Amino acid sequence: MDLDKPFSEKFIKLRRKAEKFLSERDEIYGKAVDEDPLKMIHEFQTMQIELELQNEELRLSQQELAASRESYVELYEFAPVGYLILGLKGLILKSNLAFADMLSIEREYLINRPLSAHIIVEDLNIYYRHLRNLFELKTRQICELSMIKRDRTPFDVHLESTLVLDEYKNIEQYRIMVIDISEHKRTQKQMAQYSDRLEETVDRRTTELSVLKKDLIIKMDQTRKSEERLRFLTRRLIDTREDECKKISRELHDALGQQLTAITFNLSTLRNDIPDFCKELLDDTDLIVDNMATQVRNLSLDLRPSMLDDLGLIPTLRWFINDFHKRTKIKIKLKAVELDEYRDENLAITIFRIVQESLNNVKKHAEATNVEIFLKREITRITGFIQDNGNGFDINEIFLTNEEKHLGLLGMKERISILGGTLNIKSGNGQGTRINIEIPI
Ligand SMILES: Nc1ncnc2c1ncn2[C@@H]1O[C@H](COP(=O)(O)OP(=O)(O)O)[C@@H](O)[C@H]1O
Ligand SMILES: [Mg+2]
Repeated sequence: MDLDKPFSEKFIKLRRKAEKFLSERDEIYGKAVDEDPLKMIHEFQTMQIELELQNEELRLSQQELAASRESYVELYEFAPVGYLILGLKGLILKSNLAFADMLSIEREYLINRPLSAHIIVEDLNIYYRHLRNLFELKTRQICELSMIKRDRTPFDVHLESTLVLDEYKNIEQYRIMVIDISEHKRTQKQMAQYSDRLEETVDRRTTELSVLKKDLIIKMDQTRKSEERLRFLTRRLIDTREDECKKISRELHDALGQQLTAITFNLSTLRNDIPDFCKELLDDTDLIVDNMATQVRNLSLDLRPSMLDDLGLIPTLRWFINDFHKRTKIKIKLKAVELDEYRDENLAITIFRIVQESLNNVKKHAEATNVEIFLKREITRITGFIQDNGNGFDINEIFLTNEEKHLGLLGMKERISILGGTLNIKSGNGQGTRINIEIPI
């Protein structure tokens, strides 16, 4: 035993101590004893003291041993795992209390009985394979299986087994550690259930979402189609309106205008042949016809200035601005770059209508004194603005209200977007209004 060496060293030390003790005593008594019997007595006394000291040391060691054995037993018996010693035939030779406790069986009922009696039938194969592998491979083996408690409740365990060899390296016994993993398994099962449920929910939500997505795509497609239809209808409406305006304007100018000219001619012919008292009435009628002719002309121009088709955009704008200034006294400056030669009916009527609506708004709402109009043809687009120095307005407020309240601005935007262009308005209370346009060409 390992303990032997320190022990023998201890005894040698003790003997020296005893001898020292005696020699000191002899010194006290004054002389050494030379005769044999006395020497022997001295020797015996030495041994007696030696033995007494040894005895004391042994008592202390025994106490220490008992204490450490106690804590070892406690550790072994109440460990959080089961410890077993199994004979080669599978009988339980030793078991700690923890294992008996795991099975809710008293330890006596375990000893000399097969461990297999506590394993569920379905898992016996696992257990036998485990023992066979241990025996044949002679290496540590582990497995998981279900055992049954005394009241037949199953529980899951983890087995870890090693061999106990005798001094000739022959297999003598099996040493088995049993860990109760039922709680761990339960948690695992719960986790698997949760994860299954989660997967199910995710699957369900994914399906729902894909259905929603399909619906959304269909709805977006429908919305896109309705928007296209609406745009088409708006364009048709604007075109038809322009055509109608053109027609009515022509009718007014050609038919009505000519008839009014004929009336004026007839009236002047009549002038020579009527009596004097009728002349005043004729003057009056002349004035009425004159006014009518002006109104018809204005109406016709308002509806659609024919010069737009005959002379183009810029001369028409100059005439319109001039006329507008005469009527309102608002100063208007027009600057057009690279546009005099440019002819495009659609573009011309769009820009004309935008300027017309903008100037009408200036007259109706802005209380402005100056307006600046700028138009420029670039390689791929026409850009420009109409800017007044009036009182401006809150754009958000206007566009948040009922659409009927801003049909003019909406119409401008619509006309420009039909040509693929953009129109944006910059305005603020007291800051004037600026309408920027950009149209691709
Ligand atoms: N140049 C402007 N200056 C001040 N307010 C303007 C101007 N242009 C438009 N507005 C404001 O925007 C509103 C909407 O204009 P619009 O769509 O042309 O409709 P409407 O002229 O029929 O009122 C106007 O009622 C007015 O309050
Ligand atoms: Mg308006």
